[in-house]
Amino acid sequence: MSLLQIRGLTASYDRSPVLHEVSLEVPEGGFITVVGANTAGKSTLLRCISGLLDKVSGSIVFDGQDILRLPPHRVPELGIAHVPEGRHVFAEMTVEENLYLGGYCRRRDAAALKQSCDQVYALFPRLRERRRQAAGTLSGGEQQMVAFGRALMLKPRLLLLDEPSHGLAPKVVEEMHQAMIDIHRSGLTILLVEQNTRLALSVADHAYVLQSGEMALSGPSSALLEDSRVRAAYLGL
Ligand SMILES: Nc1ncnc2c1ncn2[C@@H]1O[C@H](COP(=O)(O)OP(=O)(O)O)[C@@H](O)[C@H]1O
Ligand SMILES: [Mg+2]
Repeated sequence: MSLLQIRGLTASYDRSPVLHEVSLEVPEGGFITVVGANTAGKSTLLRCISGLLDKVSGSIVFDGQDILRLPPHRVPELGIAHVPEGRHVFAEMTVEENLYLGGYCRRRDAAALKQSCDQVYALFPRLRERRRQAAGTLSGGEQQMVAFGRALMLKPRLLLLDEPSHGLAPKVVEEMHQAMIDIHRSGLTILLVEQNTRLALSVADHAYVLQSGEMALSGPSSALLEDSRVRAAYLGL
């Protein structure tokens, strides 16, 4: 059974739907990506999973439970961590305080949280060096690491990543790329939404193409990399 199964999801902010009858499956242990142009509806899809939209229909089933109308604060409790686009770190708080906020649901187990924090520092050694520094003073790439690490502090069963490499220098994009691969290899299930199709198809095993709020194509990443429509529209080939 899939860890996450979305069927016929339609969602709107006001009257006109932004997502139309979207279906998608994320198997346990999988690395799935949804690629699409700017405004295709990628962030909206993740927001629906996190319970942030009210005007929704269809179904979103996580581990056998329909979470479509679950209030947003209940979603992390199920083990779904969301790294939003634009990072949203708490600028005045230190790196380590930001990380511990992500572990709020696990606050009663201090030893386990400390262990998760050490794992985040092992993944991103630069965060250990800067752990007492206000997060707002970090570079964009380092703030992305904080946002990523904060999500890992939940010890999630499903990680939702919204364009983690957007606006970062190529070297930092490469670090993010490697971090995603390492985290997936450690056993975490990932759903990544990306405008950077080339990067997304190189890390994920299965991909969906979202076009104007509708699922246009899906298949193994290796097959989409060879698909003439994907190559022409998204890879500039
Ligand atoms: N808070 C909002 N209120 C109203 N419309 C929104 C809001 N956020 C996004 N939209 C609209 O929904 C559509 C999909 O946006 P979004 O999910 O952010 O796309 P993507 O992440 O693929 O760039 C766009 O047309 C966008 O203008
Ligand atoms: Mg977006």
